[in-house]
Amino acid sequence: MEKLICFIFLLFPIVQSYLVGCYYDYNQPLVLPEQLPTGICTHVLLIGAIFVRNLELSVIEHPYNGFIALESMRDYRTRDGNKLKLIPSILGDDAEWKSALKDSDSQMTFISSLINFAKIQNLDGFDFDWEYPCGEYKSIYTSFIEKLRIAVDEVFHNEFLLTTAVGAGKNTIDNCYEIEKLSQVLDLIHLMTYDYHSIYDKQTGYSSPIYPKNVEVGDARYYNTEWSAAYLVEQGVPRNKILIGLEGLGHTFQLNNSNIHDFAAPVIGPGYGGGWMTFIEFCLLVRTAGSHWDDEAKVNYTYYKDQWTNVGDVRAAEEKALFIKANGYGGAFTFGLHLDDSADICQYGETFPIHRTIARYLQ
Ligand SMILES: *[C@@H]1O[C@H](CO)[C@@H](O)[C@H](O)[C@H]1NC(C)=O
Ligand SMILES: *[C@@H]1O[C@H](CO)[C@@H](O)[C@H](O)[C@H]1NC(C)=O
Repeated sequence: MEKLICFIFLLFPIVQSYLVGCYYDYNQPLVLPEQLPTGICTHVLLIGAIFVRNLELSVIEHPYNGFIALESMRDYRTRDGNKLKLIPSILGDDAEWKSALKDSDSQMTFISSLINFAKIQNLDGFDFDWEYPCGEYKSIYTSFIEKLRIAVDEVFHNEFLLTTAVGAGKNTIDNCYEIEKLSQVLDLIHLMTYDYHSIYDKQTGYSSPIYPKNVEVGDARYYNTEWSAAYLVEQGVPRNKILIGLEGLGHTFQLNNSNIHDFAAPVIGPGYGGGWMTFIEFCLLVRTAGSHWDDEAKVNYTYYKDQWTNVGDVRAAEEKALFIKANGYGGAFTFGLHLDDSADICQYGETFPIHRTIARYLQ
């Protein structure tokens, strides 16, 4: 364990004591690679370009060329003085993951393909975003990561990062990850502490509360950042390997009754935007509709006529950073750079206000 902890410090020998991982989806042309801020992220996770397919990695060709995206990320790393780590996030259909991890032979084929790809593309690591390796795949996933760890350590001499995205719900954690064993061989866990509430609850709720509200009792107390992160620690995951998620999106709701608009108000379906709103859309809406701060959950929400929504804003990001420091977690990650305000449309007085806020608090 100590060896792995030292290992992280070796890889991130910067004065910064917390890590900040930044997902970046090149599919969102609102933020171009050339605009990405330097000195903010410790690692960038290019997502949406690379998929598991036929026991190897497949790079997308449309609507953009994934190899060009990878090149842009290497340029970003260079612009950042080579401190930034480039760790592409790998997605894939359930069936493709299952076939790649099916048995020792398929796993070895997949592992060689990963290593070749990493060498050719000059990567600093891989992030795995299989949602989710549940049931019988729970232990298969662990043994795959264990084998990959051994293989990459041999080839890259302990200078290669392996990370994974982990769902924050209790059922997902229980059914889909041998989290303690996994955490021994992974460098970092990107804990997706968002999407806690949606219209499936049939009532308004926050996408990413930090804390539970007093009115929440029983199982309802599991649906917040504090609970999910503490649960991983309770299972044996080292705190400094847990990165807390911030999402630049939130769920929208259509209220059943415009006059009942507090937390847990009845809803009849998704609201604006088919159920999702970005951080920028939220800040623009708040200008007209005003905002309401929930000091228990530490989030801002808004309502307008029969519409209700909450997206993590700058204040919520500050609170998350304080939470991370107070609890000794490894840092934060964002989803992502492509959803932040690259043009100061929100008038916070700076570009990428969410990312710059997180960096100011965690540096
Ligand atoms: C929704 O509103 C209607 C009409 O105001 C009311 O009769 C009904 O009970 C409400 N449903 C919920 C779940 O609150
Ligand atoms: C909620 O958001 C609004 C709009 O960005 C902001 O002015 C306000 O300060 C926030 N509330 C709190 C309590 O931080």
